[in-house]
Amino acid sequence: MIIGILGKGGSGKSTISTHLAKCLASKKENKVLAIDADHNMDLTFNLGVEESFNYLGSSLEDVKRKSGLSVNQDYREALSFNNQGLFTLSPQDSFTQKYTKHLAENFFLMTAGPQTNDVLLDKACSHALFTSLKVYLPLLSLQKHEWVVIDEKAGADGVSTGIPTGFDIALIVSEPTIHGMKTARQISELLDYYDVPYEFVINKMMEQYSSVNFEDSLGKNPVAVFDFDQKFTLFNDSNMDILIRHLEQRYDSVVGQRFSRSQKKFNTKK
Ligand SMILES: Nc1ncnc2c1ncn2[C@@H]1O[C@H](COP(=O)(O)OP(=O)(O)OP(=O)(O)O)[C@@H](O)[C@H]1O
Ligand SMILES: [Mg+2]
Repeated sequence: MIIGILGKGGSGKSTISTHLAKCLASKKENKVLAIDADHNMDLTFNLGVEESFNYLGSSLEDVKRKSGLSVNQDYREALSFNNQGLFTLSPQDSFTQKYTKHLAENFFLMTAGPQTNDVLLDKACSHALFTSLKVYLPLLSLQKHEWVVIDEKAGADGVSTGIPTGFDIALIVSEPTIHGMKTARQISELLDYYDVPYEFVINKMMEQYSSVNFEDSLGKNPVAVFDFDQKFTLFNDSNMDILIRHLEQRYDSVVGQRFSRSQKKFNTKK
């Protein structure tokens, strides 16, 4: 299952992505690919990777070649014919192999990476660093015990790029504040527009917000609430188990839609 973590800046996306990915990978039967889709590279840092490796930000030509396109063709054409299953985690296809960092036997990392020269010299928008994911996610074939956790950029900005249409489900992380929940709701409305399933997660919960009615503010209740915790022990928080159990229960209702959803978004359905 591909889980994309969205939310307002500073809400805790990278923290929750890190703990969710680690928690999933702590079960040997799982295979986990963590994807850092933010220039800040916080997920990469949190997972202890400091040396550079092959970043997704420079992978567009490879993803096109792998999809049978020439480098001059538009990447969207990769979705115009049925290429599903082009990318796999078991065994890793050549693209996945090239662009992942091995963290443990069953745990891998892909990172969009810092701004490339093209971005710095204004030849490409910084969103270009994530373009490969628009092809990779819809064409990635996963088994039930294989999980992908994507730490996204802040706010609603990234939703319309087309990466979230390649999620099986999004988790919208929000602080229990008025502005946090306003952005969370805005993100959920965009996800509704693209038919992407989502759930809310409240992070940094504090006593002073105990009277907040989340259902009123967000439109539905959050599936997990993580307390404000200076020691960042979310990994040991029983709420993480609750969250994972909820995701497992959603499996049948959310998988199998990302390819056609992405085709629709990129208008490549033939
Ligand atoms: N439950 C929590 N309790 C206390 N501090 C937290 C909690 N969750 C996250 N933090 C802290 O809040 C800050 C922001 O967290 P994090 O980097 O995960 O947010 P983010 O949404 O990924 O931010 P950005 O938008 O910059 O990517 C960090 O200092 C992190 O350690
Ligand atoms: Mg972050």
